[in-house]
Amino acid sequence: MNNEDLKEFLTIDDLDVESKTIFFRADINSVVVDGKVQMKERIKENAKTIRELSAKKARVVILAHQGRVGGADFLPLEQHAELLRNFVDLRYIDDVMGPAARDAIRKLWDGEVLLLDNVRLLAEETLQRTPEEHAKSIFVQKLAPLADIYINDAFSVAHRSHASVVGFPKVLESGIGRLMERELRALRRAVHSIRRPCIYVLGGVKSEEVFDVMEHTLKRGKVNEILTAGTLGTLFLYARGIIEPSEEDKRNKKFMENLARAKRILELGDDKIKCPKDVAVEVNGKRREIPANSVKPKQKVYDIGEETAKEYAEEIKGAKTVIMKGPAGWYEHEAFRKGTEEILRALASSDAFSLIGGGHTSAAMSTLGINKQNLPHTHVSLAGGAFLHYLLEKNLPGIEVLKRY
Ligand code: 3PG
Repeated sequence: MNNEDLKEFLTIDDLDVESKTIFFRADINSVVVDGKVQMKERIKENAKTIRELSAKKARVVILAHQGRVGGADFLPLEQHAELLRNFVDLRYIDDVMGPAARDAIRKLWDGEVLLLDNVRLLAEETLQRTPEEHAKSIFVQKLAPLADIYINDAFSVAHRSHASVVGFPKVLESGIGRLMERELRALRRAVHSIRRPCIYVLGGVKSEEVFDVMEHTLKRGKVNEILTAGTLGTLFLYARGIIEPSEEDKRNKKFMENLARAKRILELGDDKIKCPKDVAVEVNGKRREIPANSVKPKQKVYDIGEETAKEYAEEIKGAKTVIMKGPAGWYEHEAFRKGTEEILRALASSDAFSLIGGGHTSAAMSTLGINKQNLPHTHVSLAGGAFLHYLLEKNLPGIEVLKRY
């Protein structure tokens, strides 16, 4: 494999892992529904790297988190162990750095895999500290002497300066896992070696998540066109004065703040931002398509219309790089998934390199039965916050600390 493009990192190919104890930082953090941890692509992808290491006779110790302290999804990793066992044999221990965990690590055989409990059970893990400070934590000081190598396969948590992410690489020989390799390669293509025309397709329900990305790419001249859809598309219809806000909208502080931000973004690149020409609304429980300028105050928009979807698909066909975040509409509802489907089909039939981010877009792909095989030139990022950080060209502490130079 050619690792020229990632030469500042050590990969598994560069490391001699046989009979070595590897601390493997995975991100298996998942959605929890009624106390049940859901199977996520992240679990499957991390499992593949773990299997490879185990096949190479490494002694693998998985470090991972679930949820945030105090949240309903803050759970031990017992259920994750069960989910991982669908792909790789492993032992789970409900301890992170106590005598039981340390004993289990010492007793590992070649090829054996051990999952420790949620690292966020340790208060030290999430303290806002530098890598050097984390390296001095009790957690790192107690466990690091038991390991030979640290491998990080958790791109999705690389924006956090947490002990298990930045502390161990300061004291152990370190490298990146296979999922991390794929994420970094794809993000570099999308941000640092862009082939033009480059198009962003931005949708979803949380407009505020992508304001910074829009501003950043427009200011840096990194984008040729931004196609807006979902709630963001509707917001820009308001910002352009195509839809009038209702009295209720005007009293909604968050809506008015978002509207003001959208207007400022238009000042940066009005000619580069496209809004839907037509949209889908609900009438008597059914989809009805109407021109964007006939949306009434308070009327809810659930998808982009057919004409817009076709126009966006054409734009995608002419692009060389496409970055997509967020579905075009309410894809969970059969009547309102056409826009998202048309966009994803356009990506599937295009030769452009594309990068898809955000959990909702991946969920939409599953709902529509579109998988990675249908999208040969697409990388689907499994990261949320880290994906946005990278698009904004912010430093990711978990990546910086792994660089050899
Ligand atoms: C994620 O799910 O994006 C990562 O696991 C990071 O989780 P966090 O936002 O709780 O740090």
